[in-house]
Amino acid sequence: MKFEMNNALVHAAVNAALLAREHAYAPYSAFRVGAAVVDGSGAIHVGCNVENASYGLTNCAERAAIAAATVAGRRDIQFCVVVTEARQPASPCGACRQVLFECAPDMPILCTTPDRKDVWYNLSELLPNAFGPSSL
Ligand code: THU
Repeated sequence: MKFEMNNALVHAAVNAALLAREHAYAPYSAFRVGAAVVDGSGAIHVGCNVENASYGLTNCAERAAIAAATVAGRRDIQFCVVVTEARQPASPCGACRQVLFECAPDMPILCTTPDRKDVWYNLSELLPNAFGPSSL
């Protein structure tokens, strides 16, 4: 069946990311992030940020979501949702952009807040001229 990104699926992904965000482990920054990636079957995979007393070992929500999708056997990511409580919806960090690129070089990314200040990007505008599998 052909994948269709409709409002209901976006809404479900935002809700899933919001729930995931509840599980964020962010005692150092207090900046909680929830992410969801949706695969070609419409299944939603979530992640939250997981900090560490050794700060540099922190894992971001987006990369946790990609790891969850990978564990579920899915790399065909169609879009990504990131929820933060920043004044302006925060977009994925550079490391996460690179990891998202490996799944889908131009996936749509919805950056939003709990009160749905939505901003849409395409990955290619966030990470132009990327290094990727075809560079090797
Ligand atoms: N963080 C994410 O989870 N995703 C991003 O794209 C940006 C930053 C997390 C890492 C850290 O736990 C907190 O936000 C503050 O940087």
